[in-house]
Amino acid sequence: MQFDEIIKNTNYSDSNKPNLLDYQSKYDDFDWYKDGFSKLDWLPDGGLNNAYECVDRHVKNGFGDKTALIWLGKNGEEERYTYSEFKDHSDKFGQVMLDLGMKKSDKVFIFMDRLPELYFAAMGILKAGGVIAPLFSAFGPDPVKDRMLDAGAAYLVTSPDLRKKISPILKDIPTLKNIIIVNKDNRFENPLLDDDLDYSELMKNVNSDTFKLVSTSQYDFSIMHYTSGSTGKPKGVLHRHQAVVQQMLTGNWALELSHGDIYFCTADPGWVTGTSYGMIAPWTNGVTQIIYEGGFSASSWYDIIQKYNVDIWYTAPTAIRLLMRAGEDVVSKYDLTSLKFIGSVGEPLNPEAVVWGERNYKLPIHDNWWQTETGAIMCANYTSTNIKPGSMGRPFPGITMGILNDEFDEIKDETSGILAVRPGWPSQMFAYWKQDDMHNSRFKKGWYITGDQASRDKDGYYWFQGRADDVINTAGHLVGPFEVESALIEHPAVAEAGVIGKPDPIAMEIVKAFVTLNTNYEQTEELRRELIRFAREKLSAGVAPREIDFLETMPKTRSGKIMRRLLKARELGEPEGDISTLEDD
Ligand code: PRX
Repeated sequence: MQFDEIIKNTNYSDSNKPNLLDYQSKYDDFDWYKDGFSKLDWLPDGGLNNAYECVDRHVKNGFGDKTALIWLGKNGEEERYTYSEFKDHSDKFGQVMLDLGMKKSDKVFIFMDRLPELYFAAMGILKAGGVIAPLFSAFGPDPVKDRMLDAGAAYLVTSPDLRKKISPILKDIPTLKNIIIVNKDNRFENPLLDDDLDYSELMKNVNSDTFKLVSTSQYDFSIMHYTSGSTGKPKGVLHRHQAVVQQMLTGNWALELSHGDIYFCTADPGWVTGTSYGMIAPWTNGVTQIIYEGGFSASSWYDIIQKYNVDIWYTAPTAIRLLMRAGEDVVSKYDLTSLKFIGSVGEPLNPEAVVWGERNYKLPIHDNWWQTETGAIMCANYTSTNIKPGSMGRPFPGITMGILNDEFDEIKDETSGILAVRPGWPSQMFAYWKQDDMHNSRFKKGWYITGDQASRDKDGYYWFQGRADDVINTAGHLVGPFEVESALIEHPAVAEAGVIGKPDPIAMEIVKAFVTLNTNYEQTEELRRELIRFAREKLSAGVAPREIDFLETMPKTRSGKIMRRLLKARELGEPEGDISTLEDD
């Protein structure tokens, strides 16, 4: 049956779908999964490796000469790699890691800009049985240290500039065995510090023919991404190789990716969209992927779409709002008719953006919803069904979603409540690394609790209402207030800090902090600027507060918890709600 038919015929109110955790034995029940499974090339001993599925499978199937990756450097460089070359580079890097003594499930952090070597390294590590932990290259030393320490990082792959940025914290990671430096095109002089290893030298000394893929089982760990919660430092979300099934199928069915397409995903691999849909989904579907090292720019993005005849473009609402602001005149200068599908994720996509896209790109923008924890798209606006502008679409076949009340019972009408998913899909997170209680707390009465509030209409479309917690979504990136507060109170002037998301017309929310000062410090404009600078250096410009207000006293509960909810209500001039637990001033 065609996927279009399946979507049309699926009864979305049926919550008795088989549990996909057991999907291998059950997949006969799913016509639509059968297709996906038959495309996968299970290893001879029954194992599954997502890098093998992304790269080697295509070479084996005779597509080795097809272009896997077109890299566009920030200085105007262009490099192309076929699937065979991709296999060669990733095999070599796999061998490098094995020679260095990497063991199955060792965590390898990748902290670099979007260079081809990032992707060769990622695929090589996965083929050699390691776990990749990519980090956003804009992060400052603090977030890098927290994450590497928490994970017990064994290796780090980075570039000379970023290595220097975080040098002081690296000695604090006792588990770290080697640092591998990628000095792309010798951009930096004297690239190596201490015992650093040089990527090109290591690659020169190995032969791709000697590499033998380490057989991973579908249950072995593959990728770890850190995500923020309301409390505590970010948690490591651990995924397994089996996620590849869902990433491939959703790439194909929700994003329309298929062999030969030219695909442009604007997300960075430091965030989950950049791995699930910036690596695994596109390459398992055999596309040619454009990797652009530069950041947002309306004209550069349109130029790329025009010049490379991009078919499929996956981006985020903040970027779309920036493109809208750049204006219709800019769009009209480019021929964007190669586009056949535009997708969006990460934040609510306002209905005006869908309409604007339709007018300017002659295509609607398809919103879909998922999370780091879900590993792949859970619900989407498909090409085969009507888009409801402003809605996140309908669940993917085999996925059951629900709206729950505060007792975690399902709400059948259109009232909004807790957005939940029935556990057991292939790309479901395996764990929050070393945080079992936190992980278990996300499962209630047979549902996975997403942390979002939403509603479902009578046609089964889901509508995002907001976050159920204090996590801030700024330009599609989740920021945990605790991480920002912790950085601020390290400044000698700051006594207490409370951090909230302040609504913003472009970025959805910006990070705003409130601080009280230690005695002997004055509330000056200079100090405010100094604190913003301090937080930026420690965290990154995107995570640091954009605004800081001074307070005489911080609203706290009697047990000493900062009342972010109250800070936000006061900021927005909204009713303060229940303040019975507020500590007396
Ligand atoms: O709050 C939802 C929002 O982003 C969260 C997931 O963020 P993260 O784990 O970083 O994964 C980002 C890549 C998908 C969700 O809990 N979110 C995601 N997609 C949408 C969304 N909010 C509204 N509409 C969406 N389509």
